[in-house]
Amino acid sequence: MSTIAIERLTKQFDDVVAVNDVSLEIGANEMLVIVGPSGCGKTTLLRLLAGLEAPTSGKIQFGERVVNKVRPRDRNVSMVFQNYALFPALNVYNNIAYGLQARGFPKDKIRSKVMEAAEMLRLEDNLERKPSMLSGGQQQRVALARAYVRTADLYLFDEPLANLDVPLRQQARTDILALHKRKGRPSVYVTHDQAEAMALGDRIAVMRDGKIVQIGSSDEIYSRPNSKFIAYFIGTPSINFWEGTVLEKGDTLRLKTEHFEMVLPDSFARVRPLVGKTVTVGVRPEDLHSLRTAEFETKVGNTLNGTIELIEALPYGSAVYLMMDDQQLVTATMPTRVPNSYMGRTIELGIDMEKIHLFDVESEQVI
Ligand SMILES: Nc1ncnc2c1ncn2[C@@H]1O[C@H](COP(=O)(O)OP(=O)(O)OP(=O)(O)O)[C@@H](O)[C@H]1O
Ligand SMILES: [Mg+2]
Repeated sequence: MSTIAIERLTKQFDDVVAVNDVSLEIGANEMLVIVGPSGCGKTTLLRLLAGLEAPTSGKIQFGERVVNKVRPRDRNVSMVFQNYALFPALNVYNNIAYGLQARGFPKDKIRSKVMEAAEMLRLEDNLERKPSMLSGGQQQRVALARAYVRTADLYLFDEPLANLDVPLRQQARTDILALHKRKGRPSVYVTHDQAEAMALGDRIAVMRDGKIVQIGSSDEIYSRPNSKFIAYFIGTPSINFWEGTVLEKGDTLRLKTEHFEMVLPDSFARVRPLVGKTVTVGVRPEDLHSLRTAEFETKVGNTLNGTIELIEALPYGSAVYLMMDDQQLVTATMPTRVPNSYMGRTIELGIDMEKIHLFDVESEQVI
């Protein structure tokens, strides 16, 4: 299969630039996940790919073919809409079969394809039912079956799991990944749930205000965010931010925040020109460690003190919310359950200094 290429694509509605000069390529059997806040242009980008919107400028290519002027039905794209968009008057069988019937496939071929999809998505017992008689999860699987029953050149998913509860979402994610692997075709999956993005994507593109602000593997986006926005948007609980002044003492560089001072490791030598300036420092909750379990040397210059205000159980441990000097809240996650008897205690946490992030205060870009 061929790759999908978007070049300098822009879509403007009156005074809103919904998609702003976006260029990207989607690999022949890649699942690209697009993530970003509400209104950033995700749906518009999918609709441009499907041919449901005409670009204001730019180019969309499926392999060698420029498809800007190709009508939606001739693009061979399969799209799952957020609200499922099932036909209420048709039963499940005919909902799944619709695209094949419309394309004039022979009846027995349609039957075998529908049955295969229905089996894979555990819908065999519901084929005679109308969508109104199905649960949300079942309707959602019908929408997936309908998309996957055809072999398309591109699959598009617009937040298809947004209305499902957590266990169903997990199951549906697994279904989508299995179907994707089987088809081996390019897919674009939109979500505003960053955990879902991390779980699904070969690569993740983060959108903001119509632009793609970073694209990379989930690892890259998580460990090397190129801006404060991305550092904040990806990761739960959210990253901690402080403002600090860069200082030089002897030959070490330090960062002095309102409540504590850190010694910057050698890997941050690049900030030397910023001595005297203020920067934003970001520390992810899991990069704050209990001194007992920290796998690095904790010493003055990479610790902070806080009083435990709140402990929250996580599937894999605890989130601990601490207050520094009655003022600033810090979030730390621990790989073990922290007992409630720790509430109110003041503890010292080690900062994994190699993993901190520095951002320009004005531009919010990574330093
Ligand atoms: N047909 C339209 N006419 C005018 N403005 C539009 C139209 N469609 C979208 N927009 C605007 O374009 C911007 C992007 O909308 P879009 O639906 O692509 O966002 P989104 O990222 O999908 O958001 P959400 O996560 O809420 O679904 C918004 O400001 C929206 O109001
Ligand atoms: Mg949308």
